[in-house]
Amino acid sequence: MCGIVGIIGNQPVAPLLVDALKRLEYRGYDSAGVATLHDGKLDRRRAEGKLINLETELTSTPLEGNVGIGHTRWATHGAPTQNNAHPHFCEGVAVVHNGIIENFSEIRDELSARGAQFTTDTDTEVVAQLLASLLRSGKSTKEAMLATLNIIRGAYAIAVLIEGENGQIIGARNGPPLAVGYGKGEMFLGSDAIALSPFTDDITYLEDGDWAIIDRNGVEIFDIEGNSVERARRKAFTAYAQVDKGNHRHFMEKEIYEQPEVMSHTLAHYVDFSSGRVRDIASEIDFSSVDSLKIAACGTAYYAGQIGKNWFERYAGLPVEIDVASEFRYREMPLPGSQAALFVSQSGETADTLASLRYCKEHGLKIGAIVNVRESTIAREADVVFPTLAGPEIGVASTKALTCQLSAFAALAIAAGRARGTLVEDEEVNMVRALSEAPRIAGSVLNTIQPQLETLSRELSKFRHVLYLGRGTNYTLAMEGALKLKEISYIHAEGYAAGELKHGPIALIDENMPVIVIAPHDRHFEKTISNMQEVAARGGRIIFITDENGAAASTLETMSTIVLPNVDELVMPLIFTLPVQLLAYHTAVFMGTDVDQPRNLAKSVTVE
Ligand code: M6R
Repeated sequence: MCGIVGIIGNQPVAPLLVDALKRLEYRGYDSAGVATLHDGKLDRRRAEGKLINLETELTSTPLEGNVGIGHTRWATHGAPTQNNAHPHFCEGVAVVHNGIIENFSEIRDELSARGAQFTTDTDTEVVAQLLASLLRSGKSTKEAMLATLNIIRGAYAIAVLIEGENGQIIGARNGPPLAVGYGKGEMFLGSDAIALSPFTDDITYLEDGDWAIIDRNGVEIFDIEGNSVERARRKAFTAYAQVDKGNHRHFMEKEIYEQPEVMSHTLAHYVDFSSGRVRDIASEIDFSSVDSLKIAACGTAYYAGQIGKNWFERYAGLPVEIDVASEFRYREMPLPGSQAALFVSQSGETADTLASLRYCKEHGLKIGAIVNVRESTIAREADVVFPTLAGPEIGVASTKALTCQLSAFAALAIAAGRARGTLVEDEEVNMVRALSEAPRIAGSVLNTIQPQLETLSRELSKFRHVLYLGRGTNYTLAMEGALKLKEISYIHAEGYAAGELKHGPIALIDENMPVIVIAPHDRHFEKTISNMQEVAARGGRIIFITDENGAAASTLETMSTIVLPNVDELVMPLIFTLPVQLLAYHTAVFMGTDVDQPRNLAKSVTVE
């Protein structure tokens, strides 16, 4: 989603703003712009498409000024044109905005009736127009900003420059994150710590309803009534300072290959490998006293939750209800008895997941959050944070976040099993031992399967439709595989429970629809082989992802068979997701798509 940055500096800030925007590119955007204040006057440059276009604009017509704001726009209202790109100007006011102003048409009608001329199709322009009209009516900057924030409704992070307030940036937050950064004689504003990382790691996160007047000497923060409020300063996690691709072509590739390491960091946080026991942190929710668990998340994090559900039910006898957060938040479900809720999110900012969390919190549930960004809103609003130690995930396609989420879920399910008496000590030790081997196995799988997957991906890139099948946790991986393939290669893909094949999707099977079957030799294997027979009998081409035992047990002809080592059933999802990720990655590379920032997608989905 949109990214915001603001700098009160000691040198021309336009190039610094563009650099900071580059660090926000991973969030997804389709146009960009910067505005500065120079000699008391506002000026701006904006461009459609990637930041290189904005840089070209700035090279041909540079922008002076030591104070400025910048924006990457992910279009919601109005096409991604140069004219709709932020900053929006009105009579000496410049505004950039992330989120949606829900009552924008009401405000626009009212201002238009009073003679305002709107020049864009965006919801954001109403903020600039409203603020300008309030300033024109004689209000001070502070009064006008406060009045504006009390009129607009919706989710927003906003940065404002005003002519006449020459060393000042105003920021406001109600939903999407916004951080104030402290430098030496300089101040910063940004959507996240990554944007600000080269400037400072000394940061204050605004809370919902906060707004701030920032100048060279510091910041004053107010609530929505205009009262001055104190917010903590904290050190941003240093990991955010190191965000580059290393020797990899794409962040996604780098993040896939980081998995053995980050998986082991995450596992080590939750389990003690020497004693073979789960650490106390995993017991911070009293699983023995809850009757059931609710889980809500979006996209890949939802799939992590589905596998988590499978484990909680199987190993701890704990019933779990899971839903995608965009449905969960509106279901108005009763939440009786003793329940806890878990919310899963890489960014910790996903609007639907946050709203689901708040719904459960209002109903008195104990809230756990499995999150990657520890300063995120979801982390801050949860009762208990279960961190994933994946480090910054920049590629839009979630890879290492998933395996770290699964690592945390596995430990939590074991902790729940111990607390509920469904796992005895020996079982816990065996499961922890199996988990401890996962990073090493993941490393060797990544080192060996890549050439075969690269060749196969070349073939796969020729097809327009792909079906993924699996059972149990591999059904979830089938859906995850389809999501990964479609989001970065734009090939249409569906993930189905293999048992559902004959209830509909089998009608699609022919030689133009490759079927990727994920079937290690587990308790579902025989049944899945029968489904593969049904595909083969109809001329379908099969890509078979299995283990050594599965390969030995199957005589079916396939387009390709990818053989992974035999692993413990608990560890299978952590390992079998790797070929699924690599297949999508290499296919997208062959298709020539923008792997890290696929079209239309955002990394951090802060609007619903
Ligand atoms: O930051 P979150 O984990 O809450 O994000 C959830 C989804 O938006 C995310 O997993 C998305 O589906 C990915 N692009 C999938 O690769």
